[in-house]
Amino acid sequence: MTDPLISPRDLGRGFPKDFAWGVSTSAYQIEGAAAEDGRKPSIWDIRCKIEGKVANGETGEIACDHYHRLPEDIALMRDMGLRVYRFSTAWPRILPRGRGVVNQVGLDFYDRVIDQTLAAGMVPWLCLYHWDLPQALEEVGGWTNRDTAYWFADYAAVVAQRTRDRVKHYITFNESSVFTVFGYTNDWAAPGVMDRAAHLKATHHVNLAHGLGVDVLRSLVPGAVIGCVHNNQQVVPETDTPENRAATALLDEFWNGAFPDPQNLGHYPPMLAQMMEPYIQAGDMARICRPCDFFGLNHYGPIFCKADPKTLWGFGWGSAPEGAGDRAVMGWPIFPEKFGEMLLDLTKRYGLPIYVTENGCGNHEDAPDANGIVDDKKRIYFLSQYIGQMKAAMQKGADVRGYMVWSLMDNFEWGSGFGPRFGLIHVDFKTLKRTPKNSSKWYAELIKASRGG
Ligand code: FCB
Repeated sequence: MTDPLISPRDLGRGFPKDFAWGVSTSAYQIEGAAAEDGRKPSIWDIRCKIEGKVANGETGEIACDHYHRLPEDIALMRDMGLRVYRFSTAWPRILPRGRGVVNQVGLDFYDRVIDQTLAAGMVPWLCLYHWDLPQALEEVGGWTNRDTAYWFADYAAVVAQRTRDRVKHYITFNESSVFTVFGYTNDWAAPGVMDRAAHLKATHHVNLAHGLGVDVLRSLVPGAVIGCVHNNQQVVPETDTPENRAATALLDEFWNGAFPDPQNLGHYPPMLAQMMEPYIQAGDMARICRPCDFFGLNHYGPIFCKADPKTLWGFGWGSAPEGAGDRAVMGWPIFPEKFGEMLLDLTKRYGLPIYVTENGCGNHEDAPDANGIVDDKKRIYFLSQYIGQMKAAMQKGADVRGYMVWSLMDNFEWGSGFGPRFGLIHVDFKTLKRTPKNSSKWYAELIKASRGG
């Protein structure tokens, strides 16, 4: 942390006045109320019950209790002057068994989310799938079952019909390669099925679900702005050996190409194209490649890859080279300039406007001091570096239209439980008290400056 800090006022100046500054959250990570009002388990509720899968046996059963504290959380967002709130709807709250009977009470909750978001002057961005597949669908094969793609389209229709009078921005999936690679190859995410064929099938069926979902949204929501959120990060060999290079090339296809390429270019990357052949039915590539309005990018930092013959596909996660970049928690390295490069590369490759739908920094140590202040300098440093690189990339031609911090508040960070705190707002998980961190004030100032305030 040696670079001088840019002031939020200077950093905010020079962005387009309508730049979509916001925050992101996801249903399972914040809502809680897991068994309330008709919601049934998702694959993550089930995973949390298996010993050893989540740090300290923690779960999203209560999480931030956002389900019951919605007005307070919306007020905190309004106070920051955000333009956009990106959240996800929980499929198992809306269709508790994944298909069939619709749970109106579940939809009522999202009515409240949308109405209050709008009343606070923010634009709601609704993501349909942030990893919480209804367990009832997992029991009939989950994403390895081609029918799940069609059930997803039915679910998208239910949500669209209910929300289209107030929501115009829709995201089909969040980080499909994370939940497929982690869920089917290294047991870091639900459903934890370790099998090559299952991984390939799930990948193809999620792509198909995306394409079908885009069509449903397009036909039901006049004027909809539709896209998918991808987690593109540079994949580089931990050290330059032929084995590491080969592992890197394959992980790069799975991580960065497996979803954006078929969805936007109409084909899989070369190695995957061959492996995928048995699962592709006639007409599928056209069903998957449907015109999108934007590319959603979640970016944190590069992946250092090493060959690891013990893993399903022979790729493993290595470490950042000694001295290269500061380090955030969870071993995620901080490389702001890679973010700028990624924005330029994606603009060139897909030709779509980009919204950064997640970027942020997890600190274990964030806590209120004796005066109740959470002085999260590390996050302010992180955000100023990344936003600075984004601004520079935009000046060089990257077509970026918005930026959303992960996350509004500390929340349930999947397998890492409540350890890493990513929020602009601190949450005490015993009392559920919210305390805005200094970074939230810093972000508010930046947004104000960007609007000429
Ligand atoms: C992303 C996820 C999000 C959160 C952040 C830290 O991969 O989309 O849910 O866990 O990482």
